[in-house]
Amino acid sequence: IALPTNLFKDRENAPGIDLSNPEAWENIAQNTDDFASKPRSLFFYPKPKGKQVKVFSPANPEECLGEVPFPPEEDIENMLSLTASYAEEWDRLPVEQRAEKVKKLAKEIWENRDELLYLLCAEAGKTVPSALSEIREAIDFCNYYAKETTRLFAHPHLLPGPRGEENKLHYHGCGLWVCISPWNFPLSIFIGQIVAALLSGNVVAAKPAEETPLIATAAINLAYKAGIPREVLSLILGDGQSGKIMINHPLVRGVAFTGSTKTAKNIALYLSQKEGPIVPFIAETGGINCMVVDATAAIERAVKDILVSAFDNAGQRCSSLRLLLVQKEISDSILDLLSDATQSLIVGDPRFSETDVGPIIRKSLLEELQKFSCFFETQGRLLAKAPMGKTASSNGFFFAPQLFEIPSVDLVNQEIFGPILPVVRYSRNDLSYRLKEIHQKGFGLTMGLQTRLESLTQKLCFSAPVGNFYVNRSMIGAVVESQPFGGEGLSGTGPKAGGPNYLLRFVRERTCTINT
Ligand code: SER
Repeated sequence: IALPTNLFKDRENAPGIDLSNPEAWENIAQNTDDFASKPRSLFFYPKPKGKQVKVFSPANPEECLGEVPFPPEEDIENMLSLTASYAEEWDRLPVEQRAEKVKKLAKEIWENRDELLYLLCAEAGKTVPSALSEIREAIDFCNYYAKETTRLFAHPHLLPGPRGEENKLHYHGCGLWVCISPWNFPLSIFIGQIVAALLSGNVVAAKPAEETPLIATAAINLAYKAGIPREVLSLILGDGQSGKIMINHPLVRGVAFTGSTKTAKNIALYLSQKEGPIVPFIAETGGINCMVVDATAAIERAVKDILVSAFDNAGQRCSSLRLLLVQKEISDSILDLLSDATQSLIVGDPRFSETDVGPIIRKSLLEELQKFSCFFETQGRLLAKAPMGKTASSNGFFFAPQLFEIPSVDLVNQEIFGPILPVVRYSRNDLSYRLKEIHQKGFGLTMGLQTRLESLTQKLCFSAPVGNFYVNRSMIGAVVESQPFGGEGLSGTGPKAGGPNYLLRFVRERTCTINT
């Protein structure tokens, strides 16, 4: 597919807030108090039936943020059937009209940023800068996909043929898409999947992670406010069982999922066993993402990039750095600086400006991290641990970032979803072998390289089996349109979110040949 030609002309990202201005923080604190104490304006449940489930803040699990309905099986099935019945009507709507509604949603998100910021901090435990980036990413997804849908689908694709014959490739929605999204990007990934499916002419049933139903509810209500009809977009709150019911619905014609590899494989299995048509499936999962720091690297920059890559969002990004390889000759200097830097991170309540690392999303994940920490401590050596900050309440799910030296990459065989960074020292001649060992684990999401060697950069850029390869910078925070994001192997099926081929995976293509 041809890339857009006007690459930089109409590239415009969402606005931000200047967080270096103390007034911005005062406003945020004021809004946070307001939203915490008043009924939320973005909340409306069209069908408040079902089990009522309380939502708690991971920074303070005694703080109940709200109550949401998880509908029973019968209601889920009925909602999906009803949504599916509007598929044809929505598909017929001109793409420009769909795009206008999604652009309006981008505006609504920005206008309601204060409340979304509050929810992202309170419900998902995001620090304010992370929450703000996520709001901007959600807006970018809306505007970029809206632009892309017009470029790709506004007119059928004309194809060559003999004189007297007209050949056209038309794009249509597939019908009902189920979008299942994760708690670590409860706004941007949630919205990104939904608008991609809607813009491509599909109707959508969206299920957010069970940890973050409030943000999802707010986002859906903004979508309705922006003019996306309720009939074509249903919100289904619930747990894994609700997701299973959705996937097994006979009218589902596509599934987009972001989450763990294990769940992605389970979904693929259910889909393969279903009666009826073969259902397209898009999965974006995690990775054992490594960064290589060779002896020519700029040390201070490498340390800063490692710190951000491993510990931003408390290591709860699928792109986060999970395994660091440092060349022996430079390793003492890097590890000294990195240890100091790790010890100076502030763990605490995500709403405060001094906090670098917020909470872990839930208790079971916190306990898993504690087990990994014990494992690395016995198999390797603890190099540094951040102290708990004074705003990290003792009952909150806080886990201090930790840096370990371990003897071998063999000790990391699964994605450890939190702020634990194991480091392995390597010798120059070992690098290829170490990388082979890591890539053989089967994941392929992100990889980082810190070097001044152009030859190494070129070699790895060509050969590393990963979706996103970052050189001399952090390896997180892919920007919509500039860094299409997604992995291969155990890390996902493609296509890449925020990239020029993403929407094409949500459509059916139909060739129409007319003998004129
Ligand atoms: N897209 C995010 C990043 O690039 C991860 O999901 O960090």
